[in-house]
Amino acid sequence: MRVVLGVTGGIAAYKATSIIRLLTEAGHEVKVIPTQNALRFIGATTLEALSHNSVDPDLYTDVESVKHVELGKSADLIIVAPATASFLARYAAGIADDLLGNVLLASNAPVLVAPAMHTEMWNNAATVANVETLRARGIEVLTPAAGRLTGEDTGVGRLPEPEEIIEAALALVSVRDLAGKRILVTAGGTREAIDPVRYIGNHSSGKQGVAIAREAVRRGAKVTVLAANIGSLQISGATVIAADTAIEMEHQVNHLLRDQDAFISAAAVSDFRVAEVSPTKLKRSQLGDQINLRLIANPDILAGVVSRVREENLDVRTVGFAAETAGSHWALAELAKAKLGSKGCDVIVANDVSESAVFGAEHNDALIITRDGKETRVAGTKTAVASVVLDILAGL
Ligand code: CTP
Repeated sequence: MRVVLGVTGGIAAYKATSIIRLLTEAGHEVKVIPTQNALRFIGATTLEALSHNSVDPDLYTDVESVKHVELGKSADLIIVAPATASFLARYAAGIADDLLGNVLLASNAPVLVAPAMHTEMWNNAATVANVETLRARGIEVLTPAAGRLTGEDTGVGRLPEPEEIIEAALALVSVRDLAGKRILVTAGGTREAIDPVRYIGNHSSGKQGVAIAREAVRRGAKVTVLAANIGSLQISGATVIAADTAIEMEHQVNHLLRDQDAFISAAAVSDFRVAEVSPTKLKRSQLGDQINLRLIANPDILAGVVSRVREENLDVRTVGFAAETAGSHWALAELAKAKLGSKGCDVIVANDVSESAVFGAEHNDALIITRDGKETRVAGTKTAVASVVLDILAGL
C-alpha cells in the first residue's frame, strides 16, 4: 500500500521514525511529507533513510510533475502524526500553503490524524472546534493519550503509540478482496500426550497462522481458526476452535472443509503420537533408567485435505507450510518444491528454521511457491508475510 505520512512541527515528530519503520517493515511504501517546522525537530535525511524515499517538503520544486496532485491521487492512505494545533486549524480551514496541505486537499484517500500537544492547547475551544469540523468530514482524528508531556507536566496530549496509530489507520483502508470467502486456518503446534502431565510438542507459537487469520478478517473473509495450544486466543471477527492434538485437528478439518473456499495449514502438526497414552502419571521411580515410547504416525492432515478436494471435486484452495532446516536459499527452494509436490497443495510457504529465528519471533522470512512455479520471497513482520500469502491466495 502507498502511505503518505505527514509530519508536523511538534516535539513528538521524532516518533515518526517508529511509524515509518513499522509501515515499511509491514511491506508498505511510505512517502514522508514533513512541514518546514517538522524539520526543526527531525532531519530530512533520517526520514529519507528510513522511508527509502526522497523527502522534499517544498511545494515549488519538481513543479513539472505536479507532485501535490500526483502524491494525493496515488496515496492509498494518509497519516498525519504528530499533528499540531496549528496544523489542525489549517486543515480544518482547507488552507493549502505547503505540500502537505495541498496533498491532503488533492486526495480522496482515507486520512488519520494523530494530534499531540499540551493539554491546554488540546482543550482550547479553537482546537475542539477544529477537531469537530475534521471529524464531521470523515477524517479520523485520534484522541491523544494521557501521560508525561514535554516538560515536567502530565495530562492529555501525548502522541498515541506508533502501533496504535498504524492499527487505527489500516482499519480505515478496507481492502475487502476476500469479502465473503470462507477460510479455514490451522495455527500453533499440536501436543501429543504421553501421560496426563507430559507431552510431545514443538516450538510453534502460532503467530504466523494468527497473523494470517487477522489479516484475512480485515480483508473481509469469514475465518475459522483451529488453534493448537495458543492459550486463550481471541480474534475479533473470527471463530476460534481449540484443536490441541493432530487427531482433534483432523476431525475439525474434516468436519469444516466442505464449506470452505481455502484451507491454510499453518499449524505445526506432530507427525507421530504416543501409541499407548498412560491414563495415570508415569512414575519416575517405576520407570528405571530408560523409557521406550512406541510412537505411531499421525494422519497427514494437509495431504488428506488435498486428496479430498480432488476426490470430491471441492472448490477449495490449499496452502501448506514447510518448516525446513535448509541452510541456504537454494536448498530451501528445493525442499519447498519437493514438499509442494508431495503434499499436492496449491501454494507452499517455506521457512528456514535452522537458526530457529522463526519460532515465536515477530518477523519471518518466507519463500512462497505456487504450483505453477512462481516464487515470491518476503521478509518482514508476520503480518507482512500474511498479507503477501493472502495476495497470492486471492490471485488463485
Ligand atoms: N502437516 C499436516 N499434518 C501432519 C504434518 C504436517 O497437515 N501430520 C502440514 C503442516 O501443517 C504444514 C505441512 O504439512 O502445512 C508441512 O509440515 P512440515 O512439518 O513442514 O512437514 P512434514 O509434513 O512433517 O514433513 P517433513 O517432516 O518430512 O518435513
